[in-house]
Amino acid sequence: MNNMVVLISGRGSNMRAMVEAGLPVAAVISNRAEAAGLEYAAGRGIATAVVSHRGYATREAFDAALALAVDAFHPGLVALAGFMRILSAGFVQRYQGRLLNIHPSLLPAFAGLDTHARALAAGVKLHGCTVHFVTAELDHGPIVVQAAVPVFVRDDATSLAARVLAQEHRIYPQAARWFLDGKLVIENGIVRVNGDHPQQLYAP
Ligand code: GRF
Repeated sequence: MNNMVVLISGRGSNMRAMVEAGLPVAAVISNRAEAAGLEYAAGRGIATAVVSHRGYATREAFDAALALAVDAFHPGLVALAGFMRILSAGFVQRYQGRLLNIHPSLLPAFAGLDTHARALAAGVKLHGCTVHFVTAELDHGPIVVQAAVPVFVRDDATSLAARVLAQEHRIYPQAARWFLDGKLVIENGIVRVNGDHPQQLYAP
């Protein structure tokens, strides 16, 4: 139970950061066979699986197949890392309290897609990323850790995304480690970390 399964859809750089941090990644599962991250995981001797959403008529049927694939590894933690499918309430319920996600904004600002372009359009001066527990509401759920980065006048969505991504690679492995070490406590929707661990990071 002290291992984790990572769900990806593409590049998989957050998954890679977790592997490189020495986290016990038992398997990497993708809904897209062409996800680049699968190759990296296989190259590291990590089990991989593809559950294509195209093969299922309903979200529920896909999620049931996905859950079967996940449960084969008996993970203590399931980490969504660029997994581009909205999960059904049933799936979220099944993994409640052991399902984490990383989102490229300082939630609750900019839930959803295109966060970097939207942050630029809004003129925010700080942007960042958030690791949170997954609940039925998209990109909501108790916040574990956030990293903030500055937004510069010269930024475009690409440069801003790169600055944020570098911080994603720091906070997601950290959050997963805390979880697996049993350090995370959720009380009234607020996450605390046992011990003296800052839950925020500023990366000027
Ligand atoms: C990251 O920006 C993550 O926050 C978002 O999707 C992107 C995935 O990147 N949910 P990668 O596949 O981990 O490289």
